[in-house]
Amino acid sequence: MTIDDVELLVRWDDDPDVASAIGGRGADWYDWSVELVRDVPWRELLIIEEDCRPIGFLQLVDAHEEESHHWGDIEAGTWALDIWIGSPADRGRGLGAQAMSAALGRAFREHGAEVVVIDPVVGNRRAIAFYERFGFEHVGVREFDDVECSVMRRSRSAID
Ligand SMILES: CC(C)(COP(=O)(O)OP(=O)(O)OC[C@H]1O[C@@H](n2cnc3c(N)ncnc32)[C@H](O)[C@@H]1OP(=O)(O)O)[C@@H](O)C(=O)NCCC(=O)NCCS
Repeated sequence: MTIDDVELLVRWDDDPDVASAIGGRGADWYDWSVELVRDVPWRELLIIEEDCRPIGFLQLVDAHEEESHHWGDIEAGTWALDIWIGSPADRGRGLGAQAMSAALGRAFREHGAEVVVIDPVVGNRRAIAFYERFGFEHVGVREFDDVECSVMRRSRSAID
């Protein structure tokens, strides 16, 4: 991602499904014009493309090193993942699944993650089903900024 992506990201943030998914990140969520010019060692901000057309957002965060400690006291080697496909027309076509496979491979192989965690809003049933298909297991429900989220994890040993 670069600063040129701000307009796109703001548009995606306004999509109702994305907005309710971000609800789980509450006040933690990003001011893109600030975040995209910051280079921090514990995070990768990525754009998902289909044939060079930007369609979604994906981030990989070292949850142990991340500065706001969103995940609290969490073991070293744990990475967090956030993903969305920005427009309804691009969802349900298998693109999210392809991006997810690539991102998990990247987290485990390139970043040496032992575990990947995610925190979908409890009511985001379709996203939860999507993660379950990737071998994520439910750890429990936790409140992030007053929103109930389902904490899910997948370990390196579950890698395809
Ligand atoms: C969740 C998401 C990344 C999945 O990507 P995708 O490209 O739509 O998924 P795929 O086409 O690879 O797989 C389809 C599956 O994704 C899940 N899914 C979740 N939200 C969906 C949506 N709005 N439309 C279609 N599929 C969705 C379902 O499990 C679906 O399977 P189903 O059709 O049997 O219900 C994407 O739908 C999305 O960004 N949704 C809105 C924002 C969101 O909820 N992000 C997750 C935050 S935790």
